[in-house]
Amino acid sequence: MDIFLSTIFSLSTFLLTVLLFIAATTHFSRRKRRLPPGNSGLPFIGETLQLISAYKTENPEPFIDERVSKFGSVFSTHVFGEPTVFSADPETNRFILQNEGKLFESSYPGSISNLLGKHSLLLMRGGLHRRMHSLTLSFANSPIIKDRLLADIDRLVRVNMESWSGRVLLMDEAKKITFQLTVKILMSFDPCEWTENLMKEYMLVIEGFFTVPWPILSSTYRRAITARKKVAEALSPVVRERRRERKEGGEKKEDMLAAMLDEDGSGGGLSDEEIVDFLLALLVAGYDTTSTIMTLAIKYLTETPRALAQLKEEHDGIRAKKDELEALNWEDYKSMPFTQCVVNEALRITNIISGVFRRTMEDVNIKGYIIPKGWKVFASMRAVHLSHDHFKDPRSFYPWRWQQMNNSTTIPNTFTPFGGGPRRCPGYELARVVLSVFLHHMVTTFSWEAAEEDQIVYFPTTRTKKRYPILVQRRDIVGP
Ligand code: HEM
Repeated sequence: MDIFLSTIFSLSTFLLTVLLFIAATTHFSRRKRRLPPGNSGLPFIGETLQLISAYKTENPEPFIDERVSKFGSVFSTHVFGEPTVFSADPETNRFILQNEGKLFESSYPGSISNLLGKHSLLLMRGGLHRRMHSLTLSFANSPIIKDRLLADIDRLVRVNMESWSGRVLLMDEAKKITFQLTVKILMSFDPCEWTENLMKEYMLVIEGFFTVPWPILSSTYRRAITARKKVAEALSPVVRERRRERKEGGEKKEDMLAAMLDEDGSGGGLSDEEIVDFLLALLVAGYDTTSTIMTLAIKYLTETPRALAQLKEEHDGIRAKKDELEALNWEDYKSMPFTQCVVNEALRITNIISGVFRRTMEDVNIKGYIIPKGWKVFASMRAVHLSHDHFKDPRSFYPWRWQQMNNSTTIPNTFTPFGGGPRRCPGYELARVVLSVFLHHMVTTFSWEAAEEDQIVYFPTTRTKKRYPILVQRRDIVGP
């Protein structure tokens, strides 16, 4: 027994010594290399499991809160197989985003890069990225939305809502609307069997984004690769047909595809493969994000009856001046002040994109720390949006805060749901308009209640667990 106890004792002492040695050398080397303070967690997996389990719950904030209070708003950790510097600081986030292409470059997991294709805007770099980013922006800016897209948005939202009755899975319906809309903007197609089939394949591609990118290990990834091929096969003939039509002097469509094919325009000279990758990535970027914010905005409003009542009043006022089927116009959109508070608050609290990953292109000095070349950096917008330092009662849905916050009281860089710098979301205005029009038709057409309890989770993406089922009832028509 004595031998047993003394062996245990010696082993424990040995292990303790090793652990203390590792901790001391890590601490020493961290200080010597002037890395931000933090925890590396377990060998290889680092703190990945803690991060995933936090973000699979409704309240992931403690993961960041604990580290910020222990180490400060810039700390290091080890997640998804790599040492990563995490920023919860608005100034540092701005520095990271603004220095895209100079000190930092975008960095996506292997699964996403493979499925998107190398010619997608999200993976492009340098001059080509600048050119294609501004081309995308030119298709989603205010004049284009005002003159062309608003009518389509209004029509597609309305047409989809016509079939709703009883129990509706709001997330699925919102996805349908945003998919149809994105296809219309990109290629001028109205909803049909072709777009429905494309959407099915497309959803399989998205499911593969957050899997291990090894076909042998993951059937979801294998399915996603096959679906990606099918999406490319469906898009390629559309691109070829459009080229042919243009050569033969056919009708000139005014959509994203036409702009990319423009021989003499800024997007000239792209191959079919490049265009297909580009279209596919735009579908990814616009469709999932916008449909999720539509669903979650309704969830927050349902749980905040005073905000919902005020929103209804604003939109009943607009509808009262219009005929039943008259579409919203730009003036209507511009006369929705409370709606814009709701949109801001939904963007702030839901954090559809919680932050962006970058990779350092050289050793970078951040707040006196040196981040080695090749390290991952995560600029967390979520941490800023939900921080008590920047917003009062930040974890409550309170749209009225935006009535009180004007430009002089909003601290710069604290509200960045669309990122910033050269990769700032080119769809930011479009997303705001789609959400506003959707809210308009939702509150003027229906009253509703949650059909069952549902919960928001944040990993692998922000969504509700049950696709937010609601019970809808048609309202009496509000009219002039
Ligand atoms: C609520 C809806 C949306 C949110 C929260 C959102 C958020 C973001 C954020 C944070 C980024 C920056 C990524 C980075 O810096 O690495 C981004 C990029 C992007 N977004 Fe959006 N987005 C939304 C809707 C849209 C829509 C409707 C479109 C369609 C045009 C779109 C197209 C893109 C594209 C193409 C990029 C990549 C830009 C680049 O890398 O240059 N997004 N989005």
